[in-house]
Amino acid sequence: MKHPLPRWIAHRGGGSLAPENTLAGIRLAARLGFKAVEFDVMLSADGTPVLIHDETLERTTGGAGRVCDTPDATLFLLDAGNGERIPRFSEAAALCREYGLLANVEIKPATGFERETADVVARLTAAFWEGAAVQPLLSSFSLEALEVARDLAPQIPRGLLYDQVPADWLETAHRLQAVTLHCAAEHVSDAVLAEAQGKGIPVLCYTVNAKNAAKSIFERGVSSVFTDRLDLFAAETSAYKGLHLGG
Ligand code: G3P
Ligand code: MG
Repeated sequence: MKHPLPRWIAHRGGGSLAPENTLAGIRLAARLGFKAVEFDVMLSADGTPVLIHDETLERTTGGAGRVCDTPDATLFLLDAGNGERIPRFSEAAALCREYGLLANVEIKPATGFERETADVVARLTAAFWEGAAVQPLLSSFSLEALEVARDLAPQIPRGLLYDQVPADWLETAHRLQAVTLHCAAEHVSDAVLAEAQGKGIPVLCYTVNAKNAAKSIFERGVSSVFTDRLDLFAAETSAYKGLHLGG
């Protein structure tokens, strides 16, 4: 199956124009013409996969404590910004399918929950997107999580996710059968870009929040950028047709 790879990806749902990792953010991204959204998925104390970035609740919600220690009954009552709730993964998946958005599902395990989180997210990703025209892309900073995803849902494409790309990334990409390389824009080197290009592996960089930065990084060979500034890139993203991933 072919997978469209849009140039601009709304970071943490709707970037900074809506509360991060919320359904309002995903709806806004779609409304502004974005074809792809990235969001982070972690498990609650009940093992429910939810959209949230931090291991703790303080920064993005009115709650306190660790997400993995918080039961659903408490978690779903919290305000995640502007009266938005913390979404279930199932709700975000349904919205992406409804809008035809490519979802970059970042498996974001709380420390010590790498296998468990990947197990749940990989199985549900396969189930939620079964038969969908636009398939999602799984990624994670945790190589253990990607290994679990490869074993449980090999048909769902995977992306390696790094801050700084290590020297052995290509070996890891082969082992995990990863089809994309995701890394921090400020650290990506021309050597890595050349290596990835030689292997036909698209490089996706986070987080690019200025037009000139996007222009120069695209010129250097980066395929896609994650952005918080949906307002800056809305016009271009609506018009762009996209690359294709996979065979
Ligand atoms: O997946 C790209 C980016 O979201 C990784 O960093 O910390 O925003 O999840 P973070
Ligand atoms: Mg993320």
